[in-house]
Amino acid sequence: MVLSVRSTYTRAVFEDDPALKPLVFVMVGLPARGKTHIAQKVARYLSWLGYSTRTFNVGDYRRQQLGGHQIHEFFRQDNIEGMAQREHLALTALSDVEQWLQSSGRIAIYDATNTTRQRRKLVLQRCQSMGARTVFIESICEDREVIEANIRDTKLRSPDYVGMDQQSAMKDFRARLAHYERAYEPIDESQLSYIKLIDAGRQIVINRIGGYLPSKVVYFLMNIHTAPRPIWLTRHGESADNMSKRLGGDSDLSERGRHYAQQLAEFLKQRCGPMPCVIWTSGLKRAVQTAEALKPRATSWRLLNEIDAGVCEGMTYEEIRRRQPDEYSARETDKFTYRYPGGESYADLIQRLEPIITEIERQKHPLMIVSHQAVSRVLYGYLLGKAQNACPHLDVPLHTVIELRPTAYGYEELRFALG
Ligand code: SIN
Repeated sequence: MVLSVRSTYTRAVFEDDPALKPLVFVMVGLPARGKTHIAQKVARYLSWLGYSTRTFNVGDYRRQQLGGHQIHEFFRQDNIEGMAQREHLALTALSDVEQWLQSSGRIAIYDATNTTRQRRKLVLQRCQSMGARTVFIESICEDREVIEANIRDTKLRSPDYVGMDQQSAMKDFRARLAHYERAYEPIDESQLSYIKLIDAGRQIVINRIGGYLPSKVVYFLMNIHTAPRPIWLTRHGESADNMSKRLGGDSDLSERGRHYAQQLAEFLKQRCGPMPCVIWTSGLKRAVQTAEALKPRATSWRLLNEIDAGVCEGMTYEEIRRRQPDEYSARETDKFTYRYPGGESYADLIQRLEPIITEIERQKHPLMIVSHQAVSRVLYGYLLGKAQNACPHLDVPLHTVIELRPTAYGYEELRFALG
């Protein structure tokens, strides 16, 4: 009884206040225009910020339900049976979107081509009937080089073409693309809320965008790009406080730490070669000293400083356990939301690091970030799409460089233990 009153209330609130409605981002665009890349990035970003977000890729539904070996004929507009099957798959995915938003989901990203007005109208109606706000994200790209690279890096490696030689796969994919191109109607429905990304961010057009999350996503999309570059994450070298197991502080590097700094410089020289590279450190001595031998000179950001342990700064965990047993056990119970008295929690750290995420996304050069344990965990969590509450438990050892190289939809990881 109580539950039903509550759900009626919630529905009423959704109707009155658009900010509280669940949100569906609907991708639009021809194949090989980077829609899935964008969808996955937005999903990682929003999940990292704490919004339960999931992507629904209609191509995956096709592969799961029909086996994934449809030749281009399947995608012809005059293939009545193919069109019916495609509509059925699109609707199945939308039903799953609805279920997700009715359970724990707050945001869904509906990743499909949606290249006709008729299809967008159908999707919009379904989203409205779920009580969700809908924002379309259209990716338009006419740059042949970018399209070709996208076909090579994603489409030809897709499960659609397993076991097929490159040439036949290319021929089939081009024919598929031509079927889509013939039917394509770029968004021109002025009543829709939409974001158009033109030529991988060269130009962005927005229409009827308002509210916190859609505006945040516009800002995020303004900063992403497709230039592949490695990112290296490392903690500072061992410090005097590390040796005595003390939290926080601003101590100098130990002998071992200084040795790591030298090895790191050698590592970067070898891995980065002559490419221009960007290096960031926190504002704390141990990180600045670790980056001192690196070339070019590092930029130091206070935003990258270690989690603030408040009144526990300078203490060891053993001292916290003895002197502040309640704090110790509260931290053990939930390390993500636990906030050191007068200091920060991991949840706070995510808020603090958000501008850094935009800067990471914006960077087109190889990037090395020399920071601290909690900060590295949170940045690594973002890049690898880890759940928020997993971040405090991620393994980021001292004297190890984590190399992340972009792949079609994420990063490939390598770890180098130096010293
Ligand atoms: C696909 O089946 O690969 C994509 C479906 C669509 O056109 O959205």
